[in-house]
Formats: sequence, C-alpha cells, structure tokens
Amino acid sequence: MATDPIAQTLRSTTGAVGRSPMGVRDMLHGGDYNPDQWPESVWADDLRLMDDARCNTATVGVFAWARLEPADGRFDFAWLDRCLDGLAKSGKHVILATPTAAHPAWLSQLHPEVVRMHRDRRPPLHGVRVNYCPTAPAFRMRAARIAGALAERYGRRPELVLWHVHNEYVRYCYCGLCAEAFRGWLRQRHGTLDALNSAWTTSFWSHTYSDWAQIDPPGEWVPSGGYGEYTDNSMNLDWRRFQSDQQADCMALEIAAIRPHSAAPVTTNLMGTYVDLDVARFAKHLDVISWDGYPLYDQHYDLRTAISIAFQHDLMRSLKRDQPFLLMETTPSTVNWIATQRLKRPGVLRMAGLQAVAHGSDSVLYFQWRRSRGGAEKYHGAVVGHDGRNDARVFREVAMVGDSLRKLAPVVGSVVRSEVAVIYDWENRWAIDGDVTPAGKRDYEETCKEHYGWFWRQGIATDVIDMDVDLDRYRVVVAPMLFLLKPHTAKRLDEFVSRGGTLVMTYWSGLVDETDRCFLGDRPLAATLGIRVEETDATFDDEPNSLVPKPGTPGLSGEYAARQLLDIVHLEGAEALATYGRDFYAGTPALTRNRRGAGQAFYITSRNDERFHRDFYGWLARDLGLSRAVPGELPEGVSACVRHGDGVDFVFVLNTTAALATVDAGEGIELESGQPAQRPLRLPPYAVTVISRAVGTARPA
Ligand code: GLA
Ligand code: ZN
Repeated sequence: MATDPIAQTLRSTTGAVGRSPMGVRDMLHGGDYNPDQWPESVWADDLRLMDDARCNTATVGVFAWARLEPADGRFDFAWLDRCLDGLAKSGKHVILATPTAAHPAWLSQLHPEVVRMHRDRRPPLHGVRVNYCPTAPAFRMRAARIAGALAERYGRRPELVLWHVHNEYVRYCYCGLCAEAFRGWLRQRHGTLDALNSAWTTSFWSHTYSDWAQIDPPGEWVPSGGYGEYTDNSMNLDWRRFQSDQQADCMALEIAAIRPHSAAPVTTNLMGTYVDLDVARFAKHLDVISWDGYPLYDQHYDLRTAISIAFQHDLMRSLKRDQPFLLMETTPSTVNWIATQRLKRPGVLRMAGLQAVAHGSDSVLYFQWRRSRGGAEKYHGAVVGHDGRNDARVFREVAMVGDSLRKLAPVVGSVVRSEVAVIYDWENRWAIDGDVTPAGKRDYEETCKEHYGWFWRQGIATDVIDMDVDLDRYRVVVAPMLFLLKPHTAKRLDEFVSRGGTLVMTYWSGLVDETDRCFLGDRPLAATLGIRVEETDATFDDEPNSLVPKPGTPGLSGEYAARQLLDIVHLEGAEALATYGRDFYAGTPALTRNRRGAGQAFYITSRNDERFHRDFYGWLARDLGLSRAVPGELPEGVSACVRHGDGVDFVFVLNTTAALATVDAGEGIELESGQPAQRPLRLPPYAVTVISRAVGTARPA
C-alpha cells in the first residue's frame, strides 16, 4: 500500500479532498471564547496559548449582549473590533455569535413582557439565561437588531467562517403573548374550531371549544391535583409544534437580519436528542449543522455511552446528509452539571473528539476556552484553567487533539454514506411520551439506540432520520415504535418495501394519526407488514415472556427474553419466524416477515434482549451484504466508520474502552504516521487510528 498514489498525494498536500461548507481547508479546533469577561491585558495571552494548544478557531460573543449593547440601541463594538483584529492577525478562524440567548437586565426592566413565563405560571423574574419570550415583539425586534448590527459591522471580514446564532434553543414560554400566538397558529393549522374540535377529540369529557379565546397553553399535573388542561395529548402535540415553530421563527428573524450583510454560512448549536424542540424546524433555516455533544465516558464506563453519542452524531449529521457537521461544544475535562464530576481520563478527550470526526464532524470545539473567574460555570472544564498555564494536563490533552486534527486536514469535507437508516422522530416521541401506554416505561429513545447499536457494533454506517426524510438512498430502514404516523408515512414506507427495501418495525407502531387520534379498522401498515395487531400486553421487568425461533430461522438460536410491551398479532400474509414461548398467547407470532413487491417487512412484537438484536441484525447484515467499514469483526467497544472523499475513503477505527483491542482494519495508510496500516491493527486504550484507502481497494463485502 505504500505505493498507493492517492495516499501518496494525501501525505504531501492538505485540503486537497472534500468541500467544507465553510470553505476552510483545515479541521476547526478551539471553542467558546469570552474576551468580554476579561480585561484586555489577558487577550494577548489567549492568542499565544491558542497557538500552544493548536487551536485555530474562536467562537466569540456568545453571551456578550450587555457588553455589546449596554443600553437600548446604544452599541459598543470597539472592544470586539480590537478582539477580532487580534484573532485575525494571529490567523484564527472566527465563529461569530449573536448574543441573544442571554438578554440584558435593562431589557427586562424596560419591557417586563420579554421575560419568559414557565409552565407553572409563576410571575416572571429576570435572571439566568434563555429567559426570554420568543413571541414578545420587544425581544424579537432587539434580537434581530443586534444580529443585523453585528453582521453589518463584521459580516465581510475574512476571518469570519461561520455565524453562530443564539445558543441552545430550549424549553417553552407560557405567557399571554404566547397563548395568543398559539391561538393564531391553531387557526392557521386547523382552519375552523370544528376542525380543531374533531382533531383533538374534544367531545371527550366535554372539552369542546366554542371560542378560540377558550384555548390556553397546556397546564401541568402536580401531585396536589394539577391545573389547566394537562390530559389532552393532541393539544400537547400542537403546543410543542407551535413552540418549536415560534423559536425557529425567532432564529429565522436573526438570520434574515444577517443575510444582507454577510455571505458567511449560518448555524446554531443544537443539542442531539434534546426533547422539547423539533430540530427539523430549525435545520431548514441553517447552512451548517452543529451541536453540543458531552459524552460522559468518565462516569461508569458503559457501552451505551459510546452508542448514545454515536447515535446523536449520526442524528445531527443526517439533518444535512451530504455535508459534514460541526461539534460546536464538548468539554476538555469535566462538566459541572452532574453529581460526581470525575476527571476526563488521559486519552479520552482525543478519542471522543475523533469519534465526532469519524461520524462526519469537521471540528472539535470546546466549551470553553478559559475558565471564568466567577459565575455559574467557573469550575466547568476549559482549555485554560485558573492557573493560566500551558503545561497543565488538560491543556496538553487539548494540544494532542490539535496535533491529530492538523494531520487529518485531508478528511475535511468528506462525507458519510449510509445504506441503513433508523427513524427517530420528535413528533413521534412527543406522542409516545405524552400518552398513557400499557407499560409505564416507554423508552423510545433508548429503544432506537438499541436497534441502532447493532449496526454501530458491526461498523455499518447508519443515518438517523425523522419520518419526513426521503428513503430513496437506503436499503434498510428500521423504525422502532413508530406510534404516530403522518398522512404520508405509511405510503412512503410501503413504497420503500415494494421497490426492494427491507423495513424493520416493532410493537407499538402505527396506532395514531398526527393529531393523536387512533386509526379505526385496519391499521395503515397492516398490508405492508402482513399482520393484524389485536392486543398489546405489558410485562413486569422480572417476568418477561420469551421469543422462540421457529426451526430453521436463520441467525436466531435458543430463547430470547421479550418484555415491556408485547403485541399479540395474527398473520395476514406474513410468515412467523418466531413465536412467544409463554402465557395464553404462547405459540402466536413474535417475529414476522412479509415479502411484498421486491422487498420485505419484518415486525418485532416486543422489546427484546441484546442477544436478539445481535443475532437478528447480524444475520440481516450478512444476508443483505451490507457494507462494513472494516473486514474484521469489531471487539466490544471498538467502532469503525468511513468518510468518503474524492477518490479516497477515510476509515476511522476507535477503541472507546480502557482495554487493549486488535482488529483487522484492512489495508491503507495511517493518516497520522504516513505508514502502512498494521494488520491486524493494535489499539491501546482509547486509541484512534485513521486509515486512508484509495476507493476500490480493500473494500470488504
Ligand atoms: C451548554 C452551553 C454552554 C455551557 C455548557 C456547559 O452546552 O451551550 O454555554 O453552559 O452547556 O456544559
Ligand atoms: Zn411568551
């Protein structure tokens, strides 16, 4: 492989491959930089330390509103001019934030209605951050105004690579302005009160509305009895959609204020599976997806940590499937929001940072550059500690990541291509969580991760998408617990199967429409799956049922524990590959397959143990010949991912554990050392090796 011409070229050039959405040629390394919290005498030190830490990027001004606009409409940009000049002179990329996630006290004083009202309807008080009402015109006007003012002043500076609008959109506002806007949003969506009454099934418990003004945002159940309307899941779904739209709209206003002055792309830092806001409604306004990933590898190590963060990287990446994303924040050492803040063990930072890159990130950025002197996050991990030294352990770990990222410059712009998609959908999650189910535990997110995890363990690239994303590019679609179906969903899944796809669905699927009304008669996916679900049983954790494979069913052996929610089904065209082992429905189907058109649809009737997923998905991957990142079996806790560049693949092999591992990763050139890859590859604890492989060579079946 030493003679591989593409690998040779890669060693002699950087940035030759790929298209960064920011137009940069290097991996971004750096993070949240808050010069507004420090005297300017510290800034020169910052620039020197950034070079020592191999940091090339600073995200500036995230919470600097009070400094940038000390009084209503009076701006002070002089300090930011000097700060950006310094960064530009020392060759740094700048990600410029709009500061709207923490509004100044003067704004709350001037316009008390901008302060957010929480679900319990306490009188609003100024404080903390993200404490604004997304509807209040006084807030919206000022958020757009400062975004526009920043863009006008800095939008064309060459060091500016990206806009970072706001910071972590979260939660809801329940104030009177939001209530009124909600009623307007409902009118738009439903048209008439009759249509709303029907969509929300308000004939139940005499909930019928005869005037739009009677509708308020949801209340809350509390042990003393609760208040307001907290039982209506149809209302709850519309409220969550409305607040997602309202906050995305606020973001869009800021973006619209930026665009006339700047061609730089725009992002906001999303938060993985954060429940309350539907990310698709934000993603459509953004040029680049970025997110804040804080894997807690240093709690008790658990494979689920690795799988959970991989799932979220893929979820975020899949919001724009044909380009890289950015890891906008992670912590160089501890976070300050868990009970026991174990230090990040040596090597874990590099492993977890490169895990993001393996899944498609073109950055490793931190919260935060320098620990603040006071305030709520003064003990949160940072690149520079209170001692301000460049020889501290954490600082050196960061510099090691920087060294690796420099050598990974050829990876910039390369993309991930997946034959498999797992559907994880916000509206579905809201519907499942908000409804009463036969089992107290629903675990939608965990269940999706369990299914996803067995592709991850085999080194099979997987997209994580919502139910609106087109399925054309996939061979396998796994849709666990797809409880809520939008009007087009069943048809699209059926077409996917008919034209040759493999669909895997599970229990608790296809019960309600998008307003949470149960489907009557046959469920929409009955013909696709070739089954009819009659009842759903629930189990206690310590009294599982079992799944017994039929003789000759490939891949499966022995009995598997089946628990939580168990659908009892009848075959209507499908074949049973396994049956239940116990109880009055013993012998009825527990795993079915329906061949339909050129494809097939499986139905798994219960939440099953790990061994079932391993055997089932292992067999499926072999049977379909799904492409894997490396030829060898992956030991527990080792993952393998591929990013595709022009004429070259980059294979990432990561050991997420503290144990030594070996794996056959195939032939190629180790990107960091420039040497031919070892076969087999030896991976010390937390090691990551990136191998470049000319396309068309050594691709495992
Ligand atoms: C989030 C925020 C940061 C910081 C970190 C702490 O990601 O965006 O400002 O508070 O959490 O972990
Ligand atoms: Zn409000």
